[in-house]
Amino acid sequence: MISRHSHRKNEHVSLAKKFFQESASAGFEQLRFIHHGLPEITVKEVDPTTTLFNNQLQMQWPFYIEAMTGGSNETGKLNQQLAQIAHQTGVAMASGSESIALKDPSTANSFTVIRDANPTGIVFANMGAGHSLADAKQVVSLIDANALEVHINVAQEMIMPEGDREFNWIAELTDIVSHAPVPVIIKEVGFGMDQATIKQLVQSVGAKAINISGRGGTNFATIENFRRKHKDLDYLADWGQTTVESLLEAQAFKTDVDLIASGGIKTPLDIAKAIALGANAVGIAGTILNQLIQNGPEKTIEMIKDWQTGLITIMTMLGCRTIQDLQNEKLLLSPELINYIQQRRIK
Ligand code: FNR
Repeated sequence: MISRHSHRKNEHVSLAKKFFQESASAGFEQLRFIHHGLPEITVKEVDPTTTLFNNQLQMQWPFYIEAMTGGSNETGKLNQQLAQIAHQTGVAMASGSESIALKDPSTANSFTVIRDANPTGIVFANMGAGHSLADAKQVVSLIDANALEVHINVAQEMIMPEGDREFNWIAELTDIVSHAPVPVIIKEVGFGMDQATIKQLVQSVGAKAINISGRGGTNFATIENFRRKHKDLDYLADWGQTTVESLLEAQAFKTDVDLIASGGIKTPLDIAKAIALGANAVGIAGTILNQLIQNGPEKTIEMIKDWQTGLITIMTMLGCRTIQDLQNEKLLLSPELINYIQQRRIK
């Protein structure tokens, strides 16, 4: 018998595929790079490596496979395939929420396959806020993770029929950030962040890395609404800040915390623009999952390798030798984004 929680994990994958929209906007089309004619650079000089947590974590590429699956036989197979893809392309990978393995240890091997398939790669553990430090230690050790993602997902829980209804998270998050055995990333799941949340995470929780995971890609308001009996919350489909708006919200904190972007990343140009807005790394979930489900592992590896070449192409054209150079590259903003910045009093 498949458990209720395992069933939900399978549903999330099939609904993420059903509702995957190429056309949803994370806001990247509202940003432009300026072309330079004389970049004085050779392709070989471009170094796409990045670091997190004051050089503690070195990543071969500034984008990675973001948290998605695990918790059932089907999603265990997906995790294994994703981990093999990560291994073959040299990108890091985050596990889907391992909270289910804390409740039901029989699901543990749908996560351990990640480390088995990729023994030396960078792997992030993942669990929801509202769990204890002891839980954090367990999910990290289950996959021998290099870092831990803890997701904050109020909107998803509220729309989820069986979701949590209690959101007093700050004390436990603070404990986890201070005492976890590996560095911690606090992440959203596609609703974005505002200045106040980022400030609380930096100043109260002590976060060293924040993934603003914005609107514009996988939409958990739509997915969880579809799982409701009466599908009565469709008016919440546009809830949250886009990925670009969230990165703008984070500008004042760029020097205090490592920024990670995710939500609706679809091309190497999106990756480059997110980095130019201050991100040290970029997570991609829905685009990779859909490629894997529709076209299989070989095509997914091809897509990721194309993105790696694409990113080097963009960095060369901009004359950027390093990710730091790309972070210092100026972007032109659309009038809508200027308006957003003014109304939100972003400096
Ligand atoms: C997710 N996401 C997610 N995030 C997380 O922190 N823990 C999780 O268990 C999951 N589960 C999950 C399942 C599926 C099927 C998808 C597609 C996504 C959210 C994900 O990591 C990311 O924050 C958002 O999906 C936004 O990125 P994309 O999908 O627009 O690239």
